[in-house]
Amino acid sequence: MHEKADTVAVTTGETSDCESKQDHLTLIDHHNGQSYDLPIIYGSVGPNVIDVRRLYTDTGYFTFDPGFTATASCNSKITFIDGENGILLYRGYPIQDLAEYSDFMEVSYLLLKGELPTAAEKARFEHDITYHSMLNEQIAYFYRGFRRDAHPMAVMCGVVGALSAFYHDSLDINDSHQRMIASYRLVAKMPTIAAWTYKYAVGQPFIYPRNEMYYAQNFLHMMFATPCEPYHVSSVLARALDRILMLHADHEQNASTSTVRLAGSSGANPFACIAAGIASLWGPAHGGANEAVVSMLTAIGDKCNVPEYVRRAKDKSDPFRLMGFGHRVYKNYDPRAKIMQRTAHEVLDALDKKDEPLLAVALELERIALEDEYFVKRRLYPNVDFYSGIIFNAMRIPTTMFTAIFALARTVGWISQWNEMIEDPGQKIGRPRQLYSGQGPRSFKRLNQR
Ligand code: ACO
Repeated sequence: MHEKADTVAVTTGETSDCESKQDHLTLIDHHNGQSYDLPIIYGSVGPNVIDVRRLYTDTGYFTFDPGFTATASCNSKITFIDGENGILLYRGYPIQDLAEYSDFMEVSYLLLKGELPTAAEKARFEHDITYHSMLNEQIAYFYRGFRRDAHPMAVMCGVVGALSAFYHDSLDINDSHQRMIASYRLVAKMPTIAAWTYKYAVGQPFIYPRNEMYYAQNFLHMMFATPCEPYHVSSVLARALDRILMLHADHEQNASTSTVRLAGSSGANPFACIAAGIASLWGPAHGGANEAVVSMLTAIGDKCNVPEYVRRAKDKSDPFRLMGFGHRVYKNYDPRAKIMQRTAHEVLDALDKKDEPLLAVALELERIALEDEYFVKRRLYPNVDFYSGIIFNAMRIPTTMFTAIFALARTVGWISQWNEMIEDPGQKIGRPRQLYSGQGPRSFKRLNQR
């Protein structure tokens, strides 16, 4: 890779023509003495962007931003994050208010349609989601092709991708009605798919959705009921799960959402795009972190071992990281983590598990890390995954299902973002370029000459 320092300089200014004024950033290429104006586009809140769409055509340069740390990949009206101040808004509403006063069905409507529903709209939406929660019976046979010890996320990728082979009447992505049917189907069927993934793993019969039950309650019922006896879903646990679903419902252009958008940008069908999102979410640096948090807290085992793990997390020669700490965007407390911490206490109180050792270890870890210079300097705070695992653990949800539940919650965000992308008149197939640093052209040598 060649670096030529101080070749390009930038200044900001304003261009005017007889029609309009346009703020711009001027790029001066000292290499060839030319300057280029790059338009600035203003967002409603948050950072503005420099429009580099014509940069390559006009200058021959690409921008270089692996990991997209300074790149807005799309124009969106769905979710806003201010990582410096720990703010998360869905369609303008603070996550704290939604977690306190709303519920997952209302939040789903909000994300999908842009506004909070009226009472009648909400009732209609809940009805429609409820009445799409059953799976085509063929799908029950589809599960049998998997090994029983498969990771739930592996099964979820396969089953959700396979929905495109079952629901042919909602595959025309240019028809807004069909797009909405596919969206409802995904939101409605995801609890059934996730719960059946668990049932398959433990060798129990699939439990069918019940239309009189609310979304989170229905999921817990399909997870834990058996045909042998009635099963009562605790209202505290159903409410806690509902809140977890709200907190995970969308999060701007994270890795899995960007994956859904990129897959969808080629015109791929929605079920396949969501399967791609599930694959991306699975990784331990993303949705897999909640699973890793519980493994870490279990390995720490006791409060007195916390300093040793904090020392290891700071040691650059040790690959160990504090799971559930740090975030690409939040450089302040993740607002979802605070709500999660409160929910963890509520759930453990309700279950009479206040002395849960994992919680004690988590609180001690949080206390020590938040006072430690290493974490303070790098602005590493607990993220949403830090407490969700403790709550799931208390609910008897097995560790391998944590990320599957995250996928269930995030589906409405993914499909809202996918819809927004398809409706965007400026939408193009996603096709990043690269900085090539490999061999230049060279002569091919035949096998007998090498
Ligand atoms: N433990 C110890 N050190 C950390 C941690 C951590 N959890 N996270 C970041 N750091 C350090 C890095 O070593 C680096 O230090 P340096 O500047 O001395 O080299 C600095 O903090 C910045 O870290 P990056 O990895 O550059 O930050 P990035 O934005 O790329 O990564 C990420 C963010 C992946 C979330 C990271 O913080 C991490 O791996 N956390 C643990 C996994 C986790 O909890 N993921 C869940 C994210 S939330 C979600 O997906 C729902």
